[in-house]
Amino acid sequence: MSSDAHSTGEDAEVLQIAQMATLFTPWSLRLAVTFRLPDLVAGGCTALGELAERSGTDPAALRRVVRHLTNLGLFRRIDDEHVELTGRGRVLCADHPSQTARFLDQNDAFARRTDQAIPGLLESVRTGAAAWESRFGRPFWTDLAADEEFSASFDAAMAVHAARFAPAIAEGYGWSGVRHVVDVGGGTGQVIAELLRRYPHLTGTLVDLPGTVERAAASPELAALAGRCAVVGQSFFEVLPDDGDVYLLSNIVHDWPDEDSVDILRRCAAAAGPGGRVLLAERVVADTGSEASRRFVSQRDMAMLLLMGAAERGLEEFGALGAAAGLRLVSTVSLIDGQGVFLLEYVPAA
Ligand SMILES: C[S@@+](CC[C@H](N)C(=O)[O-])C[C@H]1O[C@@H](n2cnc3c(N)ncnc32)[C@H](O)[C@@H]1O
Repeated sequence: MSSDAHSTGEDAEVLQIAQMATLFTPWSLRLAVTFRLPDLVAGGCTALGELAERSGTDPAALRRVVRHLTNLGLFRRIDDEHVELTGRGRVLCADHPSQTARFLDQNDAFARRTDQAIPGLLESVRTGAAAWESRFGRPFWTDLAADEEFSASFDAAMAVHAARFAPAIAEGYGWSGVRHVVDVGGGTGQVIAELLRRYPHLTGTLVDLPGTVERAAASPELAALAGRCAVVGQSFFEVLPDDGDVYLLSNIVHDWPDEDSVDILRRCAAAAGPGGRVLLAERVVADTGSEASRRFVSQRDMAMLLLMGAAERGLEEFGALGAAAGLRLVSTVSLIDGQGVFLLEYVPAA
């Protein structure tokens, strides 16, 4: 390789690293959402002066941010005074089906607090434990339970994930052979509502913390199920209702360190009894799958460490957790390919 070719290759790497490392890009996306710039432009506010006025920003400063957002492909320049929204920029509108904006909006308590936690990753990697408590004075779940705005915004954020998980879980398992499903840590009920809507023979119980099920009980989705879904406000570290033949844990085990995860699984196994099953819907760490999916999972894994001292896990680890709880992992089905999400089915080991 000539030295010129070598230095060009090196320059490209330096540039790539600089682009990956800068915090200005993720923060300019947050800023765009927080000031509702994509919504305003989508609504016809394409003149920069008017955009500054409507977003309550300084016109000259806004112009500089819009230049960066245009360089990122979110806006397209019409002329010196006007921009329009691109397809990429549309993703940041509040009504986009992905609900991406919710996770960036600094007016949203969950987005704001998790962003503020990020520098704690230095501590988490040093200690191997969550950094939430040292940043905010109490562990994640305690903090969440003590702050109504934070817990309502967390539930709403989880409902966005659940909307993606629910149809995949409904389609990824043989629900016609199930009588009663207990959705353990089922949040505000999107997943169980989808299951009961699709399978009229099925009944269910939603279990989550009291504050969360209170919000769930008020939702029209659960009300529409006309008595087919019981709602129980309790911890999954207590004895669980024992009337289910399937115990579903969607996005739960990844929130907990191994010891707690085994405790939760053991309680599900005890409630399910000898003929019961335990189903997990979780992201699975793997060396296979698309690059996007692998990056997504590795990034979520760091978030679990930072927030809760927990982890995304590989199949072997899921097998071992089950074994420690008296369960045998018998099947795995890919649910959402682009996010590395699988449905893991366990039966009693003995
Ligand atoms: C990541 S969310 C998953 C929600 C839902 N299963 C889903 O797939 O979207 C974790 C859920 O666990 C619940 N949770 C946390 N600690 C709990 C506990 N000790 N007992 C019961 N539920 C708990 C939270 O309230 C929240 O709804």
